Amino acid sequence: MGPLVLRVENALLKKHLRRQASRLGLEFGEFRDEKLESPKMYVTELEQPELLKELTDWKEKWPECYVAISVSEPDKELWIAAETAGADLVANRGALPRLIHERLKLLLDGKALVKKKVLQKAKPVINKGEGLIGRLPDSSEDPIAVFKWKESVCAVRDICPHAGFSLADGEFDSDSGVVTCPEHGSRFHVCTGERIRGPADYPLKKYRAFQDGEEILVEIEQTE
Ligand code: FES
Repeated sequence: MGPLVLRVENALLKKHLRRQASRLGLEFGEFRDEKLESPKMYVTELEQPELLKELTDWKEKWPECYVAISVSEPDKELWIAAETAGADLVANRGALPRLIHERLKLLLDGKALVKKKVLQKAKPVINKGEGLIGRLPDSSEDPIAVFKWKESVCAVRDICPHAGFSLADGEFDSDSGVVTCPEHGSRFHVCTGERIRGPADYPLKKYRAFQDGEEILVEIEQTE
């Protein structure tokens, strides 16, 4: 099994997580970027600086790694932002060690923790240039908008993190690749999901997307 990685400052949480692993004969290693090789699990805290941005990069590098995050404050927006950035599990500090124990048992039984991905077809939008080219209004995840920008096909969650309006209806700037939310003007890059301007506080979840002839395909998690 690949490494289990811990990046937790809270001493009590660290102790409990280590204990849960050792009950199963497993051990967490500490976070050391340069030494990591196909990690199986990464457990960290939402309080770590720059975590949300790093998480997106981590998931891109190791999509099969199960990422669990502890939160100490019951902040719903932050919670959603962590899931959007790619966390597989977000739980409060007290509940996390027990949940990790269950997941580690599944790993030992050879079960996959990270959901499999499937390709789903987007509904094309009539557009000969850059900007919105497709939508998945009823994907099994959330609504998704697909954009074309500088030969790239980019897909993002079509829900503005500020108040939930559709970004597919927003104005697209083909110079910068930025879409403006039609309701209160938050701006996001359609290929990175990066939040360029508020009032939204968080970035958009992004998805892998492809164009195959006339078809626009988006990679989403398989449902049971
Ligand atoms: S809903 Fe998008 S900026 Fe308010």
